[in-house]
Amino acid sequence: MPEPRKNRVFSGVQPTGKLHIGNYLGAISQWAENQDDFENLFCVVDLHAITIPAAISPKAFHAKTLEVTALYLACGIDPAKSTIFLQSHVPEHSELAWLLNCVTPLGWLYRMTQFKAKAGTNQMVGTGLLDYPVLMAADILLYDAHYVPVGEDQKQHIEFTRDLAQRCNAMFNTRFIIPEAQIRSSGARIMGLDDPNAKMSKSIGEQKRGHSIGLLDAPSAIKKAIMSATTDGGNEARFGHAGVGVRNLLELYAVLSKRPHDEIEAEFHGHGYGKLKKSLVELVVETLRPIQERHVDLMKNQDHIRAMLDTGARRARTIAAVTVTRVRDAMGFVRSNI
Ligand code: TRP
Repeated sequence: MPEPRKNRVFSGVQPTGKLHIGNYLGAISQWAENQDDFENLFCVVDLHAITIPAAISPKAFHAKTLEVTALYLACGIDPAKSTIFLQSHVPEHSELAWLLNCVTPLGWLYRMTQFKAKAGTNQMVGTGLLDYPVLMAADILLYDAHYVPVGEDQKQHIEFTRDLAQRCNAMFNTRFIIPEAQIRSSGARIMGLDDPNAKMSKSIGEQKRGHSIGLLDAPSAIKKAIMSATTDGGNEARFGHAGVGVRNLLELYAVLSKRPHDEIEAEFHGHGYGKLKKSLVELVVETLRPIQERHVDLMKNQDHIRAMLDTGARRARTIAAVTVTRVRDAMGFVRSNI
């Protein structure tokens, strides 16, 4: 008997900004750890990266796309176990996005918090920014993915995807799988070091030193960022009592060390925050060192990365093409023989 097909996982990261420890803990490390349990597709969502076109030059965008692909590999995503590809290499993403666009109520898009935050009152933002969630839904539904491992900030996008899949299934017989978000309970929400009231951000991290811990940051930059992280006047290095800044550092320490909270409190409580910060610097530097070393090696051979992306896109397309045909048929399009 053939083995039953494993549940499918799809996720992606935009090649923009500075990929940071929050992205690693909340998403990419989780993808890597669970590779054996699922059939995985990990996409570098380059079409999403141009939704704010002025934010990145074509040259920087091009370089960033290869850099992020190499980071997937450096973080332990294994092309023998997972399909790694660029979104723009599989044209079905754009095609399904259009088909879904036509059944997406405009009101659902205006309601999205990410759009409201990024667009504000600016009428000159590109339509792609409003349409971002539909393209993301297309990414997921194209592969009939069951699970989508993401950071907590993506919850609303997954809810949107589920609602849209249900609506489409009800209007046409599209038989989309209703996907579920997989959100880590700890480490899914790492806050900015300079402002622990706001989530660590890829775009702010690129502009502002001391905001984030970039996966490719030098040890000296990591040290500076952590040692100058915003804390408070107290010395309560305890999870339940500390202010948001200290709690963020404790949380980071806990997820990276995989040690229980009481043990961590026993080690750092009553020592001021200096000891916690110094130990965290060491832990972060040691965690990132092997990733950075692999990344340097991978970037030396970009032909290898491109060849791997070709293989990934070929594999992804075999699945995507079947789904798009199913949706076209369900919607009543006339088939072509070319
Ligand atoms: N919106 C996601 C982010 O900013 C990126 C993304 C695009 C994504 N398409 C996706 C994530 C599909 C998961 C699945 O992080």
